[in-house]
Amino acid sequence: MRTQVAIIGAGPAGLLLGQLLQRAGVDAVILERQTPEYVLGRIRAGVLEQGTVALLEEAGVAERLHAEGLPHAGIELAFGGRRHRIGFEATGAHVTVYGQTEVTRDLMAARAASAATTVYEAADVALHGFDGERPRVTWRAGGHSHELACDWIAGCDGYHGVSRASVPAGAISTYERVYPFGWLGVLCDTPPVSDELIYANHPRGFALCSMRSRTRSRYYVQCGLEQKVEDWPDGRFFDELRARLDGAAASALVTGPSIEKSIAPLRSFVAEPMRFGRLLLAGDAAHIVPPTGAKGLNLAASDVRYLSRALVAACRDGDPAEVDRYSERCLRRVWKAVRFSWWFTTLMHRFPDAGELGQKLQEAELDYLVGSRAAALALAENYVGLPFED
Ligand code: FAD
Ligand code: DHB
Repeated sequence: MRTQVAIIGAGPAGLLLGQLLQRAGVDAVILERQTPEYVLGRIRAGVLEQGTVALLEEAGVAERLHAEGLPHAGIELAFGGRRHRIGFEATGAHVTVYGQTEVTRDLMAARAASAATTVYEAADVALHGFDGERPRVTWRAGGHSHELACDWIAGCDGYHGVSRASVPAGAISTYERVYPFGWLGVLCDTPPVSDELIYANHPRGFALCSMRSRTRSRYYVQCGLEQKVEDWPDGRFFDELRARLDGAAASALVTGPSIEKSIAPLRSFVAEPMRFGRLLLAGDAAHIVPPTGAKGLNLAASDVRYLSRALVAACRDGDPAEVDRYSERCLRRVWKAVRFSWWFTTLMHRFPDAGELGQKLQEAELDYLVGSRAAALALAENYVGLPFED
């Protein structure tokens, strides 16, 4: 088998890249280790930047997003028993609440409607020859070995994928921080506690009231890394969430049986560069941010924006200049989002080793943020998404 671009991974990065290439007339095959049902079962991000929505429009998959997504023009910060709104109006932009699961579902439907090949349950995917002119990908499926010759390989296979792991250690630099807590998340079919998202900093730890729709809520509480989902029956989870919210939000909270519950560790991670010969990394394969501020999925989309343009120029027009600029261009935006996610995480969580000074500084920063138009605007412009370079 032969294609122009072999895409490893059918998460949002791989599927969106496939769709953009397909519309530009560039041939791509996607290889995914899991089944489609497994990919759709992962409950993850829920907030889309305007630039992500624009890219989904360009990919022709934004119809349901526009019909069902909820535009949000601000967030609320809760601390010291009160809530303070940070509006996005001065940025001229807003975000859209629409789940990663739904984005993935829309992309899968668009791909299924085209003639493009997607191989699910591809085992032992291996990358070969990307340091030369003729890269290849091999895998096993249905008891047989398969091989795909290609011009480029797009590594869109997430943090634990094979693409980054295939790069010789001496050719890659990594930067990492693991945070001393995780997020315990619950999804339930109840109306959200408020019209906008609430990020709470409380002596018991961080809490977030988010949503997927007007009838589906997503809640998170900061938890210890040693905690297990089994330790958290629904009643205990909602008692803990209520205890971390201001009085009005606590009494407005509608509880119901959870339909998903999971614990995610928090990490900042960047691998540099994002290109190795004919292998290009995008999304979680190259970087991870802690979820505070909802940047992970948006960053995957912004990588794909640059990557799709670079691959179209190389494959269709024979112009490799954009591929040459890909890593440097992506990383400038990536590092700013890594910085914002680290800063917002540090501001909103209780750190076991903060000390009294650290605690006082955190309180002063929160107070400054809600009292200074300039500070609030800096949060807002990062939250709605920084501009793209063209
Ligand atoms: P992924 O979504 O990880 O997709 C990679 C795909 O590659 C997967 O389908 C995987 O099965 C496949 N794959 C892996 N290895 C191989 C292989 N060897 N061969 C073939 N295929 C392979 N972001 C937010 O903004 N807010 C959140 O609340 C949030 N919560 C999260 C919770 C969890 C538990 C995780 C892990 C992430 C969360 N994120 C969140 C981050 C966000 O979901 C990711 O940034 C986003 O999924 C990145 O998309 P991606 O396509 O790059 O990677
Ligand atoms: C969600 C996750 C986030 O990290 C965030 O900042 C906002 C919303 C969510 O899953 O809904």
